[in-house]
Amino acid sequence: MNYLIFWPLCMPKLTICNWKMNGSIQLIDSFISIAAHLPNDTACWNLVIAMPDIFLAYAASKEPRFRLAAQDCSTYSGFGAHTGEISADMLVDIGIRYVILGHSERRSHGDGAEAELIHVKLANATRCGLIAILCVSDDYESQITKQTESLLQVYHDKIILAYEPVSAIGTGCLPSAADIRETAVRLQQRYKIPRVIYGGSVTSTNALDILRVDEISGVLVGGASLKIDEVSAILRIQELM
Ligand code: PGA
Repeated sequence: MNYLIFWPLCMPKLTICNWKMNGSIQLIDSFISIAAHLPNDTACWNLVIAMPDIFLAYAASKEPRFRLAAQDCSTYSGFGAHTGEISADMLVDIGIRYVILGHSERRSHGDGAEAELIHVKLANATRCGLIAILCVSDDYESQITKQTESLLQVYHDKIILAYEPVSAIGTGCLPSAADIRETAVRLQQRYKIPRVIYGGSVTSTNALDILRVDEISGVLVGGASLKIDEVSAILRIQELM
């Protein structure tokens, strides 16, 4: 039995909210009310919210059951004289468990050096024990360097690949479920990584079609993740899987 194929079937699916440069204390407080309406703690644990760093410590102190993510981390590790940087070690220090890396809004397109920097961030994050959500687009072959490929193999249980076609981000134009499945299978087979999630224009309207793809372990939700009704609806769909 190929565990790469069967792993996603037995793991709960994840909804990862990417708030980008949005959010406020008020929004965090209103999201905390979601916890009260979720069917059980497990549903709560399968929700990850990636918010701007300045809100993370507040959110962690208000609702310990929520899993929180940073939207990036520094290429520097540990602590030191690097003004404005936030290291993976510092995220771990305040109880953060996930970090998004290589989001297309942070990549300078087509720049090979960028892939090297993301590799360093991924190495820092995995060394610290963070779960890294590594975003790749259709251009994944140039985004995943040989070095990164080795990291994927060593830390396959600590890295989630987020397949996010650039053309689908914020546009409402997403690939068909069959196309999403095909890419997920290719990524799993090529990189021996069990967890592949999909991101790009996910809403409560299309979440069922995406989440019922066996090879997809969850969704990365941008715009819709700022609306509590949308997130609650996606979580209810996720519970059916
Ligand atoms: P979107 O963003 O859901 O608004 O398309 C997804 C993302 O950028 O992660």
